[in-house]
This record gives sequence, structure tokens and C-alpha cells, in this order.
Amino acid sequence: MSTHSCPAHSSGAPVVPAGSSFRPLESEDYHRAAVPSIFTELAALGPIHHVVLPGEAPAWLITRRAEAEAALRDPRLAKDPLSVARHGQAIGRRRVPEDFTAVSGRQLMNLDGADHARVRRMITRYLVDSAVVRKQTVLAETVRHHVDALATEETADLVADFAVPLVNDVIGRIIGVRPELNEIIMTGGALLFGPDDPTTPAMIDAYQQVTGAAARAVAEGSAVAGANDLLEGLACAVRDGLVSRREAASNLAMVMIAATGGPVKMLGHSVVVLHDDPLRRDAMLTGDPMAVVEDLLYQQPPIPFTSWRFATETMEIAGQQVRAGDAVMVLIATANSEPAARTRSSTAPAAPDDRSAAELRARRNLAFGDGAHRCPGQSLARRLAAAALPALFRAFPGMRLEIPSTELTWRGGFGPRGPRCVPVQLHS
Ligand code: HEM
Repeated sequence: MSTHSCPAHSSGAPVVPAGSSFRPLESEDYHRAAVPSIFTELAALGPIHHVVLPGEAPAWLITRRAEAEAALRDPRLAKDPLSVARHGQAIGRRRVPEDFTAVSGRQLMNLDGADHARVRRMITRYLVDSAVVRKQTVLAETVRHHVDALATEETADLVADFAVPLVNDVIGRIIGVRPELNEIIMTGGALLFGPDDPTTPAMIDAYQQVTGAAARAVAEGSAVAGANDLLEGLACAVRDGLVSRREAASNLAMVMIAATGGPVKMLGHSVVVLHDDPLRRDAMLTGDPMAVVEDLLYQQPPIPFTSWRFATETMEIAGQQVRAGDAVMVLIATANSEPAARTRSSTAPAAPDDRSAAELRARRNLAFGDGAHRCPGQSLARRLAAAALPALFRAFPGMRLEIPSTELTWRGGFGPRGPRCVPVQLHS
């Protein structure tokens, strides 16, 4: 919950203007199909649509790649809801807009321009690929621990019993937050990142727990002295006066909350795809797991939507007038499947080797967004999946889904999307 006042939030007025042409996004198969039919229908109809998001917030949704890439790099589309407050933007009537991750204060997801770049520099140096490679042993140890923990079981839900504890543990250890505080932030964060109304007592309690634990973590510093991790970096930045204690805590909480949903959903969904596709499973076990992970991310982005941005002026996108203050989002799930506008060229030479081909694919992949807010955790997410998925299938070669994948149900509003549970028999 934000401490910023949001005039539209308390009005109790209907969220979607009467008589508007907004189209509800939550189609009948929204929680039954891995990819709801509304996604492909909208993409086939055109590049941009007025929709009502689950939770009843209205937004423009961009479905095609060229418009998506342009929007994610357009400075007229701002992340800071306060920059459009004068236009009375409406998305916050149900949910305070800067609370996309329900974290108050100034943090990466509600900053733009130079302020965003300043805070982002401080954070990304601990998450770039070379920093993640330095933590590869921690990553491998944590994966081994959680795979071994399943060995004595006959059955498991690979979401609740594997993906969630593994991801929570990895994120806490890589960022440097001690287990007790990590547990509080992860448990509360899972609720805050969901679609519930932020004014309910459960959400208010979760918010207070998360904020308190993040503030304590920043005051204490890293759980491992000299670890050169993100928490150590934030604590030093506070000591050096580069960032306020509150700003450090807001960013810590936001990064940790943003860091969990995507990887959990990705692991859950990928297990199902690999279970059903022996060829792909073999390619992962005998070939390059990073390449398989890249394709999985590309074909079923674990977060099918970007977060929202707000039009700072009235503008046109693909022939539609988007009014100042309107919220705009990208449907990564459909935009990703089109050829890349920025990298597309009929005269482009063929990739000289596999490495270049993989890099090119990664650059075209919108699963982590694009532009200034592109996901800073992408290396960690890729390396975690490339370690965890082969380890799981190697440890349990006879693993079988207990129900057909077509009968799984899917969790996700307009945030991370994945199977609610993945029940398996671990041994054949
Ligand atoms: C498979 C896993 C993941 C996926 C699919 C994913 C996806 C995304 C996407 C699409 C965005 C851009 C949102 C936008 O532009 O509106 C984003 C932003 C972000 N992600 Fe991730 N993410 C994943 C894992 C992680 C991890 C592991 C971390 C941290 C360790 C992380 C931290 C963040 C942060 C802090 C932002 C906001 C960046 C900014 O606004 O500058 N994510 N992520």
C-alpha cells in the first residue's frame, strides 16, 4: 500500500466508465488453458485493445511486437503514476497504481528517467551475469538440497514442494537476506503481488510485515559478511548517504517480490512441457540447457504481461488515440511470437555460430520486457532454470504427472502465470 494519496482510489466509483468499449480479459478458459483463447483472439484482431484486466482495472493492451518494442522504449509512457496524477488516471480505483508489487515508496517500478537509472545502477551490478556466475556454487548447492529433499517422497506437488521453496531459498541466499526475514518477505510478498484489494486486513498485515522485515534487513546488512551481495550493497549505499534507508528498503522488498513469481511459474510450466515432450527433455539433458530454457521462456513467457505504464500526453498507438493518463500494457505472450522489429533485417547475415544464435534469440525474447525497465534478474532466472530442470529430471527419470497436463488449472491474473499445482509420482 502506498502512502501517496491517490484521489481516484477512495472514490468507490465504478472502475470502467459506463458505455465504454472495454473488453473483459478474463475469458471463460482463463484458468483452464495454459494460453487463454482471448490472448490469440486479441492478437488476431489488431495490435492494441481496450481491456478490463482481472481485478477490474481498465488498460490498453498491446498485442504485437513492433508496437510493443516501440511502447517499451517510448519516454511518453511513464512508470511513475504521480507523473500523470493531474489527468486523474483511473487504474488505481481498485489498487493504488504504484502498488503493482504493493510496495510503497520510490522504487524501480515507479521511477523514470535519471532517478530510475541511478537506483537501477546500484541494483543491477549485483544481478548481472558475471555476478550470478560468481554465485554459481550457491545456486547449485541450493538446487541439490531441494532435489534431494524430494528423494524420500513417493509423490509431490512440484509447485508447492519444489519450485516455491527452491526459488525463495535461492533468492534469499543470492541477495543476502537471512532466512527468518526472507521467509517473512516471501510469504507476505506472494500475497501482495496477487490481485487482491490492497485495503483488506490481510493485505495490510502482509504489507506491514514485508516493510518491517525489509527495513530490518537493510539495517542489519548481508547475512554473510563480505559476501558482496545486493543487500550488502544497499546497506553500504545507505551508510554512504547515496540512498535513504526507506528507498533501500522499498527497493529490496520490490526486487524480492519481483524475483519470485516469474521463476516459480516458469519452473512449474516448464516441468509440464518437458514431461510431455521427450525430445525436448533429451535436448536439455544431453545438450545445452540454457538454449532449451531460452526457448521455453520465448514460447511461454512466465509473466505474459509487462507492468503498466501511463501516457503522459495524449498520443496515438497503432491508430488508436490513447489519452493522457491512460494505462498501457504489453501482452508479451503474443508480442513475443512475432518476428523482432528491431533485429529483423532481410540482409542480416546468418548467425556465425551457436553462441551468436543463442545471443540473438535472447535479444529478441520479450519474456523479460525491453527498454529501461528490462528485467535485471534475467541472468539469475535463466541460470536457475538451467540448473534446476535438468537436476530434477536426472534425479527422477521415471517421474510422471498424476493427471494429464490438459486437466491442470492455471493461476495468474495479469502477473506471473503458471499451473496452480503440478502433482507427480516421482518414481515409476
Ligand atoms: C523467469 C523469471 C522472470 C521473468 C519472466 C521476469 C520478467 C520481468 C519482466 C517482463 C519485467 C519488465 C516489466 C515491465 O517492463 O513492466 C521485469 C522487471 C523486473 N524484474 Fe523480472 N522476471 C523474472 C525474474 C526476476 C528475478 C529473478 C529478479 C531479481 C533477482 C527480477 C527482478 C525484476 C525487477 C527488479 C524488475 C523491475 C525493473 C525495473 O523496473 O527497472 N525478475 N521482470
